[in-house]
Amino acid sequence: MSAPNASSDETPTRVWQEPGGPMLVEGPVEFVREDGTTVRSDRPVVALCTCRRSRIAPFCDTSHRRRVRE
Ligand code: FES
Repeated sequence: MSAPNASSDETPTRVWQEPGGPMLVEGPVEFVREDGTTVRSDRPVVALCTCRRSRIAPFCDTSHRRRVRE
């Protein structure tokens, strides 16, 4: 399966994982949700939430930094 609107550019898009945090993607990014709607970010680096705690999903809002009291 290929990504929607996959590009044939020579330079690959760089994606990397912050330890315990978001997935960082070189922008701009157009994110396609499960329902087919899209959300766009024109930032040079876009942080995608991987912890599922973000209130602005699919983007990271730093909620992954909060610790739960034991
Ligand atoms: S990874 Fe940062 S809020 Fe989820």
